[in-house]
Amino acid sequence: MAYAFLRGEFVPLEEANISIMTHGFLYGTAVFEGIRAYWSKDDNQLYIFRAKEHYERMANSCRIMRMARKYSVDEMVELTRKLLEMNGKKNDAYLRPVVYKSSQVVGVKLTGLEDDFLLFATDMGNYLEVSKGLKVRVTSWKHVSDNSIPMRCKVNGAYANAALIKTEALDDGYDEAIVLTDDGHVSEGSAENIFLVRNGVLVTPPETDDILPGITRDTVITLAREELGIPVEIRRIDRTELYIAEEAFFCGTGAQIAPIAEIDYRPIGDGSIGPITQKIQELYFQVVRGQVAAYKNWCTPVF
Ligand SMILES: Cc1ncc(COP(=O)(O)O)c(C=O)c1O
Repeated sequence: MAYAFLRGEFVPLEEANISIMTHGFLYGTAVFEGIRAYWSKDDNQLYIFRAKEHYERMANSCRIMRMARKYSVDEMVELTRKLLEMNGKKNDAYLRPVVYKSSQVVGVKLTGLEDDFLLFATDMGNYLEVSKGLKVRVTSWKHVSDNSIPMRCKVNGAYANAALIKTEALDDGYDEAIVLTDDGHVSEGSAENIFLVRNGVLVTPPETDDILPGITRDTVITLAREELGIPVEIRRIDRTELYIAEEAFFCGTGAQIAPIAEIDYRPIGDGSIGPITQKIQELYFQVVRGQVAAYKNWCTPVF
């Protein structure tokens, strides 16, 4: 049976319901994480990838959105492990923890309301294609920014913006879109961060360019610098740098490492997966399944 965690207890997933009057549902006043767990055949083990870092980011989201956390980071990691253990599935999983304004009341504000923590797991294959390059456009939508809905915290309400961006891309025959900052610099994808390769250097926008500070982004930076000896620059990126990059890829918990083949009808490199992207992708998929000793501390065993 599949379980969820709601109102302080594990309950069968089909019984884990909230009221239609819940504040978090009415106004998007909730913060969430997306976490993957990867099954390792070699170890006969399910590993939750960088659970601690996800919950640390969630703690920051709660501070910004003035939400009380019922559980410490370590407790949330343990609840996550326990949920997967109870579900008992020996395959890859996607986890969705949410802290939300649980009061059943109409009226927009953040204070004087109750908060709750919920968690469920679901199956998720590849969110984006990872074996061939994506066709991508720059979106016509504006990105939410730090002074409107801060991307630094993963607020549910901000994903209405992401949904507009992604849907425009799909409607127009693209796989995904890139969003610019208010002043026209590259920010991120609809639900993933972006890296370019310029003159052999990995380049990615800074946290201050309205990105979600991705855990996968941090993983890529760490692996590139520590393991692969690829230099990384964190700096502002002009739109036209997208068109002349040697390689480009999206990264995220959902997206994993997803190569980009074309942006606004300009092929990236020769249109196939570039050598640096390939190296990073291969190493990433080994690391998340607990196959690289140096990074096994990023993997929380479930069983
Ligand atoms: C808007 C946005 N940017 C970037 C990311 C990547 O973050 P992470 O690597 O922590 O999953 C996500 C979510 O996965 C996202 O929703």
